[in-house]
Amino acid sequence: MSHFNRVDWVAGDPIMGLLEAFRADPNPAKLDLGVGVYKDQQGLTPIPKAVKLAEQALIGSEQTKSYIGGHGDVSFGTYLLHLVLGAHSPVIDDKRAGCTQTAGGTGALRLTGEFIAQCLPGKGIWLSQPTWPIHETLFQAAGLSISHYPYVGADNRLDVAGMLQAMRQIPRGDVILLHACCHNPTGFDLSRSDWQQVLDVVKERELLPLFDFAYQGFGDGLEEDAWAVRLFAQALPELLITSSCSKNFGLYRERTGGLIVIAENADRLLAVRSQLASIARNLWSTPPSHGAAVVAEILGSTSLRTVWQDEVEAMRNRIMSLRKGLVEALIPFGLNERFAHIAEQRGMFSYTGLTPEQVAALKERYSVYLVSSGRANVAGLDENRLDELARAIAEVSR
Ligand code: LMR
Repeated sequence: MSHFNRVDWVAGDPIMGLLEAFRADPNPAKLDLGVGVYKDQQGLTPIPKAVKLAEQALIGSEQTKSYIGGHGDVSFGTYLLHLVLGAHSPVIDDKRAGCTQTAGGTGALRLTGEFIAQCLPGKGIWLSQPTWPIHETLFQAAGLSISHYPYVGADNRLDVAGMLQAMRQIPRGDVILLHACCHNPTGFDLSRSDWQQVLDVVKERELLPLFDFAYQGFGDGLEEDAWAVRLFAQALPELLITSSCSKNFGLYRERTGGLIVIAENADRLLAVRSQLASIARNLWSTPPSHGAAVVAEILGSTSLRTVWQDEVEAMRNRIMSLRKGLVEALIPFGLNERFAHIAEQRGMFSYTGLTPEQVAALKERYSVYLVSSGRANVAGLDENRLDELARAIAEVSR
């Protein structure tokens, strides 16, 4: 008797699947623009210098490998709260904000999904169309009812009017997921006046906002990228924020992040946090230590923090220059206007506007890997190969 003979094969995650396909591709000229991972001039995903220095310090100072508790490393949580909400945030001073350490931003999202399902029954969740594909599967796995508001129009441009109109129809009290900056997958971010309008709708419909904040520092700056989150934190009694240290600290595989909760008062926060610790215990028990210890070491040291801030700035500037460089490389093919949005978008990703067929042709003919939606990880580009990529894009766009 086979216990497993009724288990069906299931297609793997499309983004991670691309990474495997890329690694298996023998073409030496292959180019990986799939998974959201930053690459340097050598095509490597470097460990930031600040991380290496922090790790060296930790080797000397670490005293134990005992558990770190349900909410994780306390100093990590405190530093992350200040990084996200600001050095002088009233909600932190009023003890209305808390951080629960999670296995990356994805772990924070899953914890949030379970919290909504178990503690806020009946609430649906609203996602942008399009959104990071894992938002769809992850909240579905948590048993939530998922709906969408439009974000990008048929012209592959931000559709603010359509978005606001749809948000005004959301059932009172539901949860709305917002991308704090560097929208994944499109790269189109809202302006400050757009955010004000979203806030008005959130208040009018009494929605519970959930900010996915996975790219702090990759858009316009560490402080600038937190602008919308801080606006909402000041204006609303309750808020959920999932923060990731994967990209800005380069800690991808260390799975480091946190779920930040802002509650109406300190007592409510304690109640919510008791539930989060209990849910987390059933998911992963207690979080891993290393990545959080590294982040705490960096943010707790003036000199390491400066090294890290400079490194984040360098990554952000390089991504911006790659965006501009690609659009310039498209000039000889008369495609610079059609793809001008690539230079205007923010963060790692660009919704290029390439069709699934064109994406497939790029992979088959040139070993250039993009997500089938047309999303390109701009942070995976090689500045010496922009002309070559522009030519390939021109070939498949004919
Ligand atoms: C991405 O969207 O490529 C990244 O967020 C990595 C991931 O986990 O999918």
